[in-house]
Amino acid sequence: MALTTSHLIDVSRKYLGSFMELTSGTKYWPGGILPSEMLCFCSLAWDQQQSEVVESGRKHGFSTEILMKCGFRTVSFEIDPIQETSNRLARLAVENAFDLNMRNEDFTRFAHEVAYVHQCPMLIDGPKGRKAVNITKEAIESLPFAAIHDMSEKAEGGNPNVGRTALNESGLEFVILGDEFAEEFGNLDSGAWKSDYSSRAEMTRYGFHMAIIKGNKWND
Ligand SMILES: C[S@@+](CC[C@H](N)C(=O)[O-])C[C@H]1O[C@@H](n2cnc3c(N)ncnc32)[C@H](O)[C@@H]1O
Repeated sequence: MALTTSHLIDVSRKYLGSFMELTSGTKYWPGGILPSEMLCFCSLAWDQQQSEVVESGRKHGFSTEILMKCGFRTVSFEIDPIQETSNRLARLAVENAFDLNMRNEDFTRFAHEVAYVHQCPMLIDGPKGRKAVNITKEAIESLPFAAIHDMSEKAEGGNPNVGRTALNESGLEFVILGDEFAEEFGNLDSGAWKSDYSSRAEMTRYGFHMAIIKGNKWND
């Protein structure tokens, strides 16, 4: 199956019910990946028959909680961990028998090795920009797919987003979740964007954030 917007819409449609059931009631933390973007990542991972994921950039743990609740063995990197978040996630994992491995380290140092060892989808929400693109390029041969957050066309202030420019020039095959995806699944985000923006239009004024990148272990 080719990596296209319509494929991402199809898989998200297919797994929407399970995703909603497993993740309902999860508290959104401002600045986190949007629920619709997490729907896409988790649906694609399920569709690619993956049981494990690696994320980098945990902060308050919204994405981490979603990944665990969706049943993925989750390796989660964070360079600047928040103790309260680590405690909450560890408690949640124990109470529900979720498989969570929190690593409080710089992902740039371990990404290549971790990708090689785990050969699973990778979700990068820190480091950002060019660093995230370079990590993905180095790891791509071991991955079914990767996702990088904050890949809008423009950065805050309206200047070109150097990370997106790096992605455009990387030779990687990618799709940005855009209007067509948001039309169908954007309602999942209504509670989320209100904490960060005054409207959906304001949220996407510099373009959409989430890039999904095809890896060499993509399952056709
Ligand atoms: C936007 S926040 C993550 C939000 C989270 N993914 C969510 O959905 O709630 C980005 C995080 O990436 C972390 N980060 C930045 N560079 C990193 C690196 N090299 N390795 C690991 N974590 C990093 C930051 O400390 C920050 O907590």
